Amino acid sequence: MDGVFTVLVTGGAQGIGKGLTAHFLGRGWRVAALDCDADAGAELLAEFAGAAPGRLRFLPADVADEEQVRRAVAELLAWSGGRLDGLVNNAGICGAWKPLEQTALADWNRVLAVNLSGGFLLAKHTAAALRNSHGAIVNIASTRALMSEPDSFAYSASKGGVVALTHALAVSLGPAVRVNCISPGWIECGPWRKAAARTVPQHSEADRAQHPCGRVGTPEDVAELAAWLLSPAAGFVTGQNHVVDGGMTKKMIYL
Ligand SMILES: NC(=O)c1ccc[n+]([C@@H]2O[C@H](COP(=O)([O-])OP(=O)(O)OC[C@H]3O[C@@H](n4cnc5c(N)ncnc54)[C@H](O)[C@@H]3O)[C@@H](O)[C@H]2O)c1
Repeated sequence: MDGVFTVLVTGGAQGIGKGLTAHFLGRGWRVAALDCDADAGAELLAEFAGAAPGRLRFLPADVADEEQVRRAVAELLAWSGGRLDGLVNNAGICGAWKPLEQTALADWNRVLAVNLSGGFLLAKHTAAALRNSHGAIVNIASTRALMSEPDSFAYSASKGGVVALTHALAVSLGPAVRVNCISPGWIECGPWRKAAARTVPQHSEADRAQHPCGRVGTPEDVAELAAWLLSPAAGFVTGQNHVVDGGMTKKMIYL
C-alpha cells in the first residue's frame, strides 16, 4: 500500500462533488469520483486526469443500487492497492417538489434511496477499508434538514435522515472511523456542471444580502471544511453536523 491519501467522492463529477474532487486533487490526494452520469465523468477525466496522472478514477455507478456500489468499491480498492482514507457521500437529488397529495410514493422512495440509502450503502461497503486506515466519512446533508420551504417533503426528510445516519455511524464505527456531516446552504453550482448543463451565476443584491457573509456559497467553501474533516487534524471531531451557509440559518426573519 502506498502513502497517497485516497478519497472516494460520490456525485463527484458535477456540482459540489466536482468541487470536492478538484480540491482534493489539488492537495495531492488520490480521488475516485463515483457518479451515475457517464458524460460528466468523461468530462471530469478530460479536465483533470492529465494534471493528476494516476490520481483520478471515474467510477460509473448508481449509489442506490447495492450491486453497483459493491462493484465500484471493489474497482476502487483494486486501483488504490486496498487503500481508502476517506468517503464523501455527496450524491443527491432534489426530486419533484409538489403539494403533499400530489407527491407520488415512487418519487418519495427514489429521493430517499439516493440521498439516504446511498450513503448507508457506501458506508457499509467501505467500512472495512476505512477501519484499516483509521479513516473518516463526510456526509453531505443540507440546511433543509433543519428548516423547510413548502412541498419539499422527501428532500428535507432524506437530509434529516443523513444527519441522524451520521451520528449512528459515528458511534458504531468509532474510534477507528470518524463520521461527520456538512449541511450546505445555497451553493452556486452552475459553473461546475457538465458542459450541456452549465450556467453562468446571476445573483441579485437580495440574494447576496440574505446571507450574513454577503454572498452565495461555492463548492470550494464546502471542500475546505470537508478536507479538514477528513484529515487527522479533525481527530477529536465526530458525529457532528457542520453548517456551511454564510449564516443564513442564523438570520431571524420578521416580515
Ligand atoms: N447546491 C446546493 O445549494 C446544495 C445545498 C445543500 C445541499 N446540497 C447537497 O449537496 C450534494 C450535491 O449537490 P449539487 O448541488 O452539487 O448537485 P448536482 O446535481 O450539481 O450534482 C450531483 C451529482 O450527483 C450525481 N448523482 C445524482 N444521483 C446519483 C446517483 N443515484 N448515483 C450516483 N451519482 C448520482 C449527479 O450525476 C451529479 O453529478 C447533494 O447531496 C445535495 O443535496 C446542495
